[in-house]
Amino acid sequence: MSTHIAAKPGQIAPYVLMPGDPLRAKWIAETFLEDTEVYSEVRGMLGFTGTYRGERVSVQGSGMGLPSFSIYAHELFAEYDVQAVVRVGSCGALSEDLAVRDIVIASGACTDSSMNRIRFEGLDYAPVADFGLLRAAVEAAEEMDLPVQTKVGLIMSSDSFYSARPELVTRMADYGVLAVEMEAAALYTLAAKFKRRGLTICTVSDHILTGEETTSQEREKTFGHMVEVALDAMLA
Ligand code: ADE
Repeated sequence: MSTHIAAKPGQIAPYVLMPGDPLRAKWIAETFLEDTEVYSEVRGMLGFTGTYRGERVSVQGSGMGLPSFSIYAHELFAEYDVQAVVRVGSCGALSEDLAVRDIVIASGACTDSSMNRIRFEGLDYAPVADFGLLRAAVEAAEEMDLPVQTKVGLIMSSDSFYSARPELVTRMADYGVLAVEMEAAALYTLAAKFKRRGLTICTVSDHILTGEETTSQEREKTFGHMVEVALDAMLA
């Protein structure tokens, strides 16, 4: 096992979906995968491996924020030889062109986190998605004829859900940033470091400009569309 994941070598598939909430990981495994086994329950951050259309796939909870996400993604890449990670999460919309329940596929992630500032000693690194996964996700969404919009563009990965300077988040919107969440920049940076593939797909759970929010039932339904897009993209 690694420091935070209890899987034995070979128990984690080369393709991993990462929701923030470990109970979402359980829901994804129960809803979409067959022949599922739990490989880790350390700290309640559940991990599962099963099959989707005959291919082995794992689902690993990440927790919230770049530091928590980085712990799990680092160990998946460094210790379990994971080749591709797709984060499936929620985001707050910053664009008037987005509505709650829409899907955002993140081509790149701006951040206010100090993690990359420390890693690159103050230089601005631009964390971007794997282009093959991004293209496959866009194609999968197009083929699925979803009842919601899918938009591709920049998002912001913030260290704070309750921002002390919300005007900085909305300034990002003035520069074309579509939505805010709390993990993608960490995934894209670590995927680059380990020469693996990473993509973030989010459903809009709340709208920063209008204050609109989704109910937990609505989130579950739209979360399912996003998971199907992610699984199809990973195995394309
Ligand atoms: N994830 C979902 N909604 C969010 C928000 N408003 N800010 C940061 N992360 C989020």
